[in-house]
Amino acid sequence: MYSFNNNKITIKDYNTPTPWMNYMSNGTFHTMISQAGGGVAFYKSPQIWRINHYRFFHLPTDRSGFYTYIKDGKTVWCPTNEPCREKPEKWSATHGMGYTRFEAEKNGINVTATYFVGEFENALIWNLKLKSDVDKKITIFPFVELGMMEFMRELQWQCYNKHQLSCYNMDDVLVYKYAVEMQPKPDETPLVYFAADVPVKAFDCDRDEFVGAYRSEENPQNVEKGECTNSTLYGGDPCFALQLEIDLKAGEEKTVNIFLGTAMTEEEIKKSVTHCREKDFVDKSFKKLAEHWEEHLSKFRCEIPDKDAEVMINVWNPYQAERNFQFSRNISFYATGTFRGVGVRDTAQDILAMVPFDTRRAKDKLNLLFTQQYKDGHCNHYCFPTEGWEPVTRIHSDNHLWLVMAAYNIIMEEGKLDYLDEIVPYYDGGEATVWEHIKKSIDFCMENLGENGFPLMLSSDWNDMLYKVCRKGKGESIWTSMQLGTVLPYMAELAKLKGEDGQKYLDIYEAQKKLVNTIAWDGEWYRRCITDEGTFIGSAKEPQAKIWLNTQSWSVISGMGDNGRKAMDSVEKYLDTPLGIKKIHPAMTTDYPTKDANLTMYNKGCGENGSVFCHANTWAIIAECILGNADRAYKYYHQLLPMIAQKKAGEWRYKAEPYVYASNIFGPESDKFGLANVSWLTGTAAWMYVAVTQYMFGIKAKYDGLEINPCLSKEMLPAKVTRVLRGCKYEITITKNEKTFVSHIEGRKEYSITI
Ligand code: NOJ
Repeated sequence: MYSFNNNKITIKDYNTPTPWMNYMSNGTFHTMISQAGGGVAFYKSPQIWRINHYRFFHLPTDRSGFYTYIKDGKTVWCPTNEPCREKPEKWSATHGMGYTRFEAEKNGINVTATYFVGEFENALIWNLKLKSDVDKKITIFPFVELGMMEFMRELQWQCYNKHQLSCYNMDDVLVYKYAVEMQPKPDETPLVYFAADVPVKAFDCDRDEFVGAYRSEENPQNVEKGECTNSTLYGGDPCFALQLEIDLKAGEEKTVNIFLGTAMTEEEIKKSVTHCREKDFVDKSFKKLAEHWEEHLSKFRCEIPDKDAEVMINVWNPYQAERNFQFSRNISFYATGTFRGVGVRDTAQDILAMVPFDTRRAKDKLNLLFTQQYKDGHCNHYCFPTEGWEPVTRIHSDNHLWLVMAAYNIIMEEGKLDYLDEIVPYYDGGEATVWEHIKKSIDFCMENLGENGFPLMLSSDWNDMLYKVCRKGKGESIWTSMQLGTVLPYMAELAKLKGEDGQKYLDIYEAQKKLVNTIAWDGEWYRRCITDEGTFIGSAKEPQAKIWLNTQSWSVISGMGDNGRKAMDSVEKYLDTPLGIKKIHPAMTTDYPTKDANLTMYNKGCGENGSVFCHANTWAIIAECILGNADRAYKYYHQLLPMIAQKKAGEWRYKAEPYVYASNIFGPESDKFGLANVSWLTGTAAWMYVAVTQYMFGIKAKYDGLEINPCLSKEMLPAKVTRVLRGCKYEITITKNEKTFVSHIEGRKEYSITI
């Protein structure tokens, strides 16, 4: 069904259980594409500048997309396999780093179609290489079904607003203009274009004329007829369709490039298309893309006996983490890209896995998050910097603390304090250095402690569902206390490095630690939180949701839990399953704690209610490493490798991609144990990367150098690792779990270390 090969995965059957996606991007123009050519392109934001229709959750699944119909006599087929009923005789799809390639053959015609977004123009490039066994004249029809750029407005106001759209031909370049009233940023809205680098015989801009009534992408009428009708569109449902006549000589390969791009004006479109059509443009763009990923992935490479883990660590995990860093939780097969913007907590965690690759990118993103912080230290929950919409201002107890963690990681990676002096505005006026910002994060926590002394939950902590236990403003989060406990020593260390007194941070730590070990300890594990009514959630005394994963793992991560070992043993005893660790046990019914104030409407075993929550599994791996239990850390790590979980659950139960992490997998209390959900955009990507690189390999940037403190089981030993830190390449061979420290010497280019 699929095979991994270096930095790519090749899929042999088009009808995977769900669309298996890939993302392409140059930072401005983005495309998500499936193994069957379905997908969506957008300029900067899928909320307000979405280019084409992708019909989420509808049947047929995974429509529409980026299709090229090949009309060979009466036969019509697509190299993407979908959406034609007529299928290629030979076919494969390959997802690589920033590109997807289809290789297909039918009736002696061989097509290789490579889709990617290059650095030099804001365009999705479709590079088609066509070959035939015998002389043939074929017609090809590249096609994109356009939509209104604002997806929500389209759902609500399409009946009026669609008459403000236009789509027309400008010297064989099709242009789409979204000039709808009331759109948020008309002056920044680009025109969209569609062009080829071969002569255009005809075109269509009116979707209904091209496709025909009661038909679909499966069999457009103008493809069947073999002729586009040169339809324009000034009001209605637009599309881009080109008719290209191709004369293939036996054995000769012809290249046709199609460009789906954006530019601000017609003049700029002309320039952009001229550039795209230059002889070496496509090759140069593809080469640059390959070099970019080669460079990016060279920062951390490993060679280990477990080859599934190796391909995840070297390729897919950092690739997925980079995509999360860019897109937050915005748009995927599961998320419709309508109202997620940039989540402060989510993005702050994504930054952790960008730090070893590019601290400037990490800093710019973190600075954006600091602009969402108020002078009292709390943060907006998520924001919309591209769309210009008002942020979601709910106050959660954890958002501001993630900022401390991200900033600390940047300082350690760079080995200098400069970043702490960068000045960033507050959301509510004024500005401060990064150092002041993160101090405010702690201050806010201390100003908002509950009756028992733990941080108030406010609108919930990391666990979205807990918002119900604190609506009266009294609920307290034991987990946030541990999160605070994790970052307090960072603050003390930074204060010391800055020559300031950081004792107060250590004092707070001790005070919170005491609470954790007294009030929060339940006998076998740490309790999760305290409700408005003063009840402990996550206690053996409760009938449901007795034990929660996060307060066990973070009791160890924070170093606060005197009973951390016992707590993690309880995780294995009550929460571990063959497909990963459940978030809570037992899953809840919808009348717990009471019918009126229930914690969840999730079905048992799903999502927040007792699924294997992959994001939280990463923290259990880290905790086991801290405790020195290499075998258990490996077990937890290995069972969640997507290709392993997929194999164990079965491809048709697991459904999601075997090359990227999912947010969660239905747990054993569900009738679909093993069903993976919300793949690609999940905090699992960043944290799994941190868990394996910094805790299992134990290779961690410290202020003065590199710490190597491995916790590797036999399946990962011996390990050869390359890690680039501050421009210096460290070649590390690990044969045993022993702690080493290598001081960084400025100007040195290479180190070789064996332990
Ligand atoms: C997914 C959300 O994006 C994230 O913010 C949250 O922390 C987790 N779910 C857990 O509830």
